[in-house]
Amino acid sequence: MADTMEKVVSLCKRRGFIFPGSEIYGGLANSWDYGPYGVELKNNIKKAWWKANVYMRNDIYGMDAAIIMHPKTWEASGHVENFFDLKADCKGCKKRFKAADLKDIKKCPECGGELTEARQFNLMFKTHTGPIEDASSLAYLRPETAQGMFVNFSNILDSRHPKLPFGLAQIGKSFRNEITPGNFTFRTREFEQMEIEYFCRPEESDKVYQDWVEARKSWYLDLGMKPENIRFRKHSKDELAHYAKACTDVEYNFPWGWSELEGIANRTDFDLKQHSSFSGQDLRYFDEVKKERFFPHIIEPSGGVDRCMLAFLADAYHEELVKDDTRVVLRLNKDLAPNKVAVLPLLKNRAEIVGIAKKLALDLKKDMVAVYDDTANIGKLYRRQDEVGTMFCVTIDVQSLEDKQATVRSRDTMGQERINIDNLKQYLIEKLK
Ligand code: GAP
Repeated sequence: MADTMEKVVSLCKRRGFIFPGSEIYGGLANSWDYGPYGVELKNNIKKAWWKANVYMRNDIYGMDAAIIMHPKTWEASGHVENFFDLKADCKGCKKRFKAADLKDIKKCPECGGELTEARQFNLMFKTHTGPIEDASSLAYLRPETAQGMFVNFSNILDSRHPKLPFGLAQIGKSFRNEITPGNFTFRTREFEQMEIEYFCRPEESDKVYQDWVEARKSWYLDLGMKPENIRFRKHSKDELAHYAKACTDVEYNFPWGWSELEGIANRTDFDLKQHSSFSGQDLRYFDEVKKERFFPHIIEPSGGVDRCMLAFLADAYHEELVKDDTRVVLRLNKDLAPNKVAVLPLLKNRAEIVGIAKKLALDLKKDMVAVYDDTANIGKLYRRQDEVGTMFCVTIDVQSLEDKQATVRSRDTMGQERINIDNLKQYLIEKLK
């Protein structure tokens, strides 16, 4: 299984999904850059999430809050006080370890050297706003997008006048100075989150929480994730974060084992109460029927974009033998596939064929992500498109000059059909619906 991970990492580099960060300088450990196909796949995941959670609902509003927030935010949220990991350093090789990973190990697992006592280490990245670097200018890069939504609660009430239950949704970068990043893009110091903060009446929160667990399950399955690779794990009491009454992790069976993709937490009224008390603003909701004010409870489905993408890549990676040759194909769902169609001329030295293919690609681009490629022979071009999960390849050949038809090849079945070039766009639009 670890082998699958190596293959996915290698495909990501080879085909332009994910590159090692700052590679020409020898790389920056655990930083990754998304290449041409990577950014498309990541955007498609975000689009699918936004569509399901914002556009398809009447009760959720989108947001995009600032990364650097007022430092009091992080006092109110509990991050200044609680967002710590215990770490120990090796006095020999200077490597740093999470105390939880060391358990009863007393020596450095890497070099056998002596370890320091475990010390507390805050995971927030510190910075300063303005030219003077002192305590008054201290600021943090947000370690979660959630707080940007809590602090805008009354702005949403005043501008959109929603009634409970309703939610806010946000996608954006978060930063954590992780002690043990690793497993490719699974745990990094800079990553993207997709978070929903769903506000409801306290007495409804248990049901709303369960409904969100179901909704999130459907989202992953609807996008083609294999049901045997996803599971839901309820946190035990001692695992819960300081703000949570309950939490269910969505776990994916990654090549190295089951690991968290997303957490769905019942945060109670912790956040709105804390921000009310630290800001001095009354963040209670006013019930016009009962004429009473109260703090809504919050259910939070919070997932990572990078982890989600890695899970979909591992899930879609497929190898099969075709005529004694290994065909690698990414069987991504059509909504996630970075490329929908590739237009390929069978003979690149025939100007009429190239002309038709280029014109067709340009026309298709108006309605779907389409590429034109003539940089190799047709066999190689098909393989390359399979490896990046392109849904259809369209080939223009000598016969196309006569019958005005093109060959359409499906990624999944490798079946081929001749389709009139004039009808081709409509044909593809139907298939990609
Ligand atoms: N607002 C709640 C919150 O941030 P979390 O469980 O700490 O909860 C939510 O993070 C999700 O963000 C995780 O399930 C994971 O997908 C992603 N995530 C967290 N830390 C990450 C990291 N260092 N690298 C990549 N993704 C991360």
